[in-house]
Amino acid sequence: MNATALLPDPLPASSAAELAGRHLVLGLSGGAACFKAAEFCRLLVKAGATVQVVMTEAACQFITPVAMQALSGRPVYVSQWDARPGNNMAHINLSREADAVVVAPASADFIAQLAQGRAGELLPLLCLARPADKAPLLLAPAMNREMWAHPATQRNLRQVAQDGAHVLGVAHGAQACGEFGDGRMLEAGELLEEVIAFFTPKPLAGRRVLVTAGPTFEAIDPVRGITNLSSGKMGFAIARAAREAGAGVTLVAGPVGLPTPRGVARVDVVSALDMHAAAMRHAAQADVFIATAAVADWRPAAAAAHKIKKDGSGAVPALAFVENPDILADVARLPRAQSWPQPGALYCVGFAAESQDLLANAQAKRARKGVPLLVGNIGPATFGKDHNALLLVDEAGATELPRASKRQLARQLVAEIARRLPVAQER
Ligand code: C5P
Repeated sequence: MNATALLPDPLPASSAAELAGRHLVLGLSGGAACFKAAEFCRLLVKAGATVQVVMTEAACQFITPVAMQALSGRPVYVSQWDARPGNNMAHINLSREADAVVVAPASADFIAQLAQGRAGELLPLLCLARPADKAPLLLAPAMNREMWAHPATQRNLRQVAQDGAHVLGVAHGAQACGEFGDGRMLEAGELLEEVIAFFTPKPLAGRRVLVTAGPTFEAIDPVRGITNLSSGKMGFAIARAAREAGAGVTLVAGPVGLPTPRGVARVDVVSALDMHAAAMRHAAQADVFIATAAVADWRPAAAAAHKIKKDGSGAVPALAFVENPDILADVARLPRAQSWPQPGALYCVGFAAESQDLLANAQAKRARKGVPLLVGNIGPATFGKDHNALLLVDEAGATELPRASKRQLARQLVAEIARRLPVAQER
């Protein structure tokens, strides 16, 4: 039987090889969330990792080692007395090969064992025996809300974090026991995002990044409006990449149907005026501003309070427009943006969606907006798509980022921005 054929495929093709070359120990302790570990295992394998599953006796009550073997493509380890390794030391061998040990689900009891340095079965033994500098430990807690809130659990979580474990968050919602609250394990896709973020270098650690993304919508009346073509995919990918690179990220998003990248603070807006207000408010705390939004240049001078009716005479409504504020130019005029490249300055990045003459148009727009970096792309070739190609124009000249997924381009752009930032200043 092909077990992998039964599961949905939530990953875009661009995530395919993000963990290529990584070897992970995936540990399962006992909890109803073990069913999510099955899909998580498959996503890790799809992302290019090799996965060695290790289960506690309790985890085997919730899901079988056979299922995890089918999904990981490797025999599963449960017992510390497993005689398969030639030296009979599974706890040493498995932990020495791993780039990280990820325990999902990590039960309250398992976390308590770790906090005490206990080693009563293979999984906690392996965690204790691992070389902490080479094989970091990630924990995805999963438990009932009362267990999660209990002072003993919170004390143990603080202890394991202090001992070097990287503790992932929990979700809020319905629990297997029928109660509702904090303590659910993150979903498989969220865990994958966390693991990828964990392995990403952190050139933006300590920086705050503000991103605008998507279109704006300018109401004509309660049922109509004008907008721009923009899926928001590029801006969302940039927000995700900036967060993975260690930044605290605020994403001001126009009306798009995209999920919020993990760890990103999202502010939803509709109109250009809303987006302008949100961007100006958050720019005060930001170190980098990246304007990817396709802001409508004009809005109806006055939105009708009620739906404008077609009266059958063939008469069309006379619409008058007024210009919207230029968000990027206004942020770039702030004193902290003007002080670039002084330390502590706000670094502004604009986007230009052109249909031709990318270099000349991008250079002209960079000068007109007064920003240090302008990123050009050919709009009609990329609207709504998962791929793009970018041209970075700054004072030194132009740099091409050739056609790739928006995800890959976002990571490259974030690295390029990090390289250009002035040395971080204590605040
Ligand atoms: O002015 P134009 O739309 O050609 O410039 C594009 C750049 O300016 C993008 O970075 C876009 O997000 C930003 N922009 C803005 N506010 C506007 C218009 C564009 O922030 N009103």
